[in-house]
Amino acid sequence: MRAYDLILKKRNGESLSAEEIKFLIRGFLKGEIPDYQMAAFLMAVYFRGMDVDETVALTEALVDSGKRVDLSNIPGVKVDKHSTGGVGDKATIVLVPLAASAGVTVAKMSGRSLGHTGGTADKLESIPGFKIEMSLEELVEIVSKVGAAMIGQSKELVPGDKKLYALRDVTAVVDSIPLIASSVMSKKIAAGCDAVVLDVKVGSGAFMKNIEEAKKLASLMVDIGSRFGIPTTAVLTRMDQPLGYAVGNSLELIEAVNTLKGEGPEDLEYLCIELGSHMLKLCGDRRDPSAIKEDLEKNYLKSGRALKKFREIIAAQGGDPSFLDNLDKLPKAEHIRYVYTDEEGYIIEIDAEKIGRAAAILGAGREVKEQRIDLSAGLIIKKKLGETVKKGDILTEMHSNNVGTFEKAEELIRNAFKIGSNKPKVPPLVIQTIG
Ligand code: URA
Repeated sequence: MRAYDLILKKRNGESLSAEEIKFLIRGFLKGEIPDYQMAAFLMAVYFRGMDVDETVALTEALVDSGKRVDLSNIPGVKVDKHSTGGVGDKATIVLVPLAASAGVTVAKMSGRSLGHTGGTADKLESIPGFKIEMSLEELVEIVSKVGAAMIGQSKELVPGDKKLYALRDVTAVVDSIPLIASSVMSKKIAAGCDAVVLDVKVGSGAFMKNIEEAKKLASLMVDIGSRFGIPTTAVLTRMDQPLGYAVGNSLELIEAVNTLKGEGPEDLEYLCIELGSHMLKLCGDRRDPSAIKEDLEKNYLKSGRALKKFREIIAAQGGDPSFLDNLDKLPKAEHIRYVYTDEEGYIIEIDAEKIGRAAAILGAGREVKEQRIDLSAGLIIKKKLGETVKKGDILTEMHSNNVGTFEKAEELIRNAFKIGSNKPKVPPLVIQTIG
């Protein structure tokens, strides 16, 4: 078998066998297939696509590139959750303790921020003392004891995805549906879960900008899950504006904690209850979805049980849960500036990607992987879609330790908000559920 022939085959729009795909991935990971051939192959995939069998073979080759977590000694159904990435998406921090308090076992691994999207691993690092880097053995131990853990992406799992993603990132092939689907699902499968709930984001702040593309991605991931015997539910949700109000690590953590106290933004709470109900369903809960949601909201979120579970998770991972009672203990930026509007009307558009980029400029994100982020930096939007504004109202509160960042961030924020004279119809957050 030669890499050249397989690149040619894909370039001509033919399907590759599982053996051929595994040959390419294994050769690339061993360094026998150079980056330039792999890059050419990936670009051919970008234009020609991959069918389900090919995507499953690619997923399998990626899973086989590293270790797999063994959660089989922990009783119950282990359900994972994954978001395809958005702006202000702190749902994992609420959802994991919420689902765990209701009896779902969750071993969650999360990535770091890159570009305009945030990463849960960074947000969790705002917690004083909280350890997100740990061995797979420690992860299993904490999940057995507490029922849930939230850690960073282990280097031992799916190293092939890391190498492939780095190449995709610099050759403009990140947004290919089969490549995203295999990348996401390989990490879920290697993480040892029995079932997965996927939050597939659609809109200005997401990878998938239109619903049709997002549906294709969601269906493909559901198909991959079923081929691996992992029941998968994908929920398509809108990312036309940031989720909640806060964007930036410790600011988002504060919003997540407030949500766990029953005082969070409506959209964030709604999403967590929705995703939580699917996690419970995958565990075999046969009640009507509306009954599950009501139970989650009343008996687990508003009652404080989810917050109590978060306390346990924090303590088990070496953190100091006392910040939950005094949020002033979290990192705070030295400077706060406001973006005011000089228009009047309704908020008709908020470009979430621009908001995410503004937060990154203030110090909350990274342009390149190695960059250090400022956990206290970020922004809080003060107006959401459909709300009225008048001259002099605050659109956004910017937080930074570097005053030099305010001007550029403000320009992006101003461009992100569009104000019109007619009240827009704000569509529902959840578009569709697949699987
Ligand atoms: N998230 C992933 O984990 N992989 C991708 O390829 C894109 C988003």
